[in-house]
Amino acid sequence: MNRNVETGAMSQNADAIQIHPQTLSIGAEITGIDLSQPLGEAARRVVYDAFLEWKVVFFRDQNLDHAAHVAFARQMGEPTIGHAVFGHETGFPEIYSIAKFRTANSHREARMQRPWTGWHTDITAAINPPLASILRGVTIPPYGGDTLWTDLAAAYQGLSETLRGFVDGLTGIHRFEALVKGDDYEESVQRRTMESEHPLVRVHPETGRRVLYVSPSFLKSIPGLSPREGQQILELLWEHAVRPEYTLRFKWRAGDIAMWDNRSTAHLAPSDIFESDFDRQLYRITLVGDVPVGIDGRTSRALQGEPILSAAAELEALARAS
Ligand code: SIN
Repeated sequence: MNRNVETGAMSQNADAIQIHPQTLSIGAEITGIDLSQPLGEAARRVVYDAFLEWKVVFFRDQNLDHAAHVAFARQMGEPTIGHAVFGHETGFPEIYSIAKFRTANSHREARMQRPWTGWHTDITAAINPPLASILRGVTIPPYGGDTLWTDLAAAYQGLSETLRGFVDGLTGIHRFEALVKGDDYEESVQRRTMESEHPLVRVHPETGRRVLYVSPSFLKSIPGLSPREGQQILELLWEHAVRPEYTLRFKWRAGDIAMWDNRSTAHLAPSDIFESDFDRQLYRITLVGDVPVGIDGRTSRALQGEPILSAAAELEALARAS
């Protein structure tokens, strides 16, 4: 730790931080940092640059509580409400509980299982999907329960030039949809409807890289193509996006933190946990995101619903409405 001579504030030694890449393009473990303490600008920059470069970064054995999780997240951006559709933890409006049997998991058995089933980029039904997600492991099964991420910038580059030329100018309709009617999931989705048209290829606002923006759980159709054409193109792109060479698998330990760039990745929560009696509990904070922009400079369009705001602004809006 270093003390700033002018402000007296403690900050971390940026030179002690080490970045350990996990694959050629996605995932890095960061060591030499204690997330329970203020980072200071130099250390924050090292972490943020690694996050942009490696798209998902991991910090082992941090053991943060809710308050420290929020404090860390605030140094990375502006926390949203825990989950715009599924709510937040009592007393911690920024925190969403990733419990094994959370409402968002209640429809899993109704889905047709295909290689890309369950893969998603967080809340792309919104006009401004979260910039990043910061997930904290608390109760972790002794084995099983891994999370996977895929690198959507590498996936874009891995398409043939001809197919890249075809998808470059297309858009996609992203929507929150309930597969089963009349349960808590549907009620939550109805309370906050969200549907947006995003470019199929988005330009990352900070790195300038092109990203194949094809969140399988939310993306429903491609305007300008017939339903059959759209479905087949989407399946081709989804299958491509989750090819093993673009992915990374993380084995959690209690106390770990994963922070991913929601503008250049998709991820998959584990489904093997439902085959065992092991419990699994994590907590997530997402950061307010921007409106995606395509290669031609056109921005996304909201078809239904409001942007996801900061936790404070969402609570204020709720109070005004009640
Ligand atoms: C998520 O989808 O944000 C949760 C991932 C996980 O449970 O591993």
